[in-house]
Amino acid sequence: MEYKLRKAEPRDVSDILRLVKELAKYEEMEEQVMVTEQDLLEDGFGDTPFYQCFVAEIQGEENHSEDPKAVVGFVMYYFTYDPWVGKQLYLEEFYVMGEYRGLGIGTDFLRHLSDLAMKTRCTGMMFVVAENNQPSVQYYKRRGAEDLSQEEGWRLFRFDKSSLAKMGTPAEE
Ligand code: ACO
Repeated sequence: MEYKLRKAEPRDVSDILRLVKELAKYEEMEEQVMVTEQDLLEDGFGDTPFYQCFVAEIQGEENHSEDPKAVVGFVMYYFTYDPWVGKQLYLEEFYVMGEYRGLGIGTDFLRHLSDLAMKTRCTGMMFVVAENNQPSVQYYKRRGAEDLSQEEGWRLFRFDKSSLAKMGTPAEE
């Protein structure tokens, strides 16, 4: 099976959104996907990119879709900073379509991210996995990932938009 990994381009946003939705469906949270192609375009390819993305593209006869070059997987990431240890890579999303799994595409994505992390002197790569996604938990653990929720007791929090609005400066009457 011939595939290549390449940096995502603006023309990929519809494929990225399709794969984001597939992953959310896999995680049984599809209804929570609010982002649009326009958001992905502006947020990833504008003056200040908020995310970076690599896609996997199947080429030639092995491609099962009607598209001669089909995007079958993606990895979305960005850089963060940990004041204790410095630069970190944050793996936000990682997905390969079911029929293309087990071919090494995921391993190639992780190789790419590991090389990038080493090159940019990151001290680690953080990510969150749903507790019920045991295949992925095991996938990461087999590659040496530590479960910080278990080992260090961190809990994941969020202020949603309404909480932020309440805490922020009140709008003028
Ligand atoms: N389907 C799934 N897994 C298979 C299959 C198959 N048909 N055949 C083999 N495998 C095993 C392989 O043995 C291999 O395990 P090992 O290398 O640890 O022994 C692994 O599953 C597949 O390895 P790769 O081919 O390198 O990775 P793949 O291209 O399948 O991508 C990924 C891995 C992205 C986790 C993929 O399985 C996937 O999309 N899963 C569903 C979505 C998901 O859970 N994504 C991660 C969410 S967490 C986050 O985004 C931070």
